[in-house]
Amino acid sequence: MEIRINIEEAASPEFLSKKEQNLIAEAMKAAVNAYAPYSGFRVGAALLLDNGEVVIGNNQENAAYHDGLCAERVAMFSANSNFPEAGIEMLAVTAMINDEFLQEPVYPCGSCRQSLQESENRFNKPIRILMCGTNLIHIANSVKDLLPLSFDASFLK
Ligand code: THU
Repeated sequence: MEIRINIEEAASPEFLSKKEQNLIAEAMKAAVNAYAPYSGFRVGAALLLDNGEVVIGNNQENAAYHDGLCAERVAMFSANSNFPEAGIEMLAVTAMINDEFLQEPVYPCGSCRQSLQESENRFNKPIRILMCGTNLIHIANSVKDLLPLSFDASFLK
């Protein structure tokens, strides 16, 4: 078996739509406000919902390390709490170390991919995922491309 995934590349936001540029700018602002005193790795996520709302999140760490949460899930859970009827159209993720944004794209962790998949399935709407670095942006058109052979609700039936 061979599994193929499709990833688009862009050298910078200027090659993307205005909507996407705006979302990346929101994710960058969110990263600045992350609470990451333990790792020093500040992540910002911004979601565009299908009702037009933009919801941001950033990583929230804790002295009990495992009690912290990633930016993507902070954003997603906030979106689903505030707008339970809205699907997620797009997600932008950015990260910074020592006050500098990463040059290379940052990718959502496995747990965030699993949570993003839940949202995709719940609203039956593929999420476009912009994984951003200042020198390169990688884009997936569905969580399915980031999480092949995944576990989902179909196993529970
Ligand atoms: N982090 C995120 O916020 N999103 C990811 O997808 C990867 C990791 C956070 C968690 C932790 O606060 C820090 O980055 C270092 O792992």
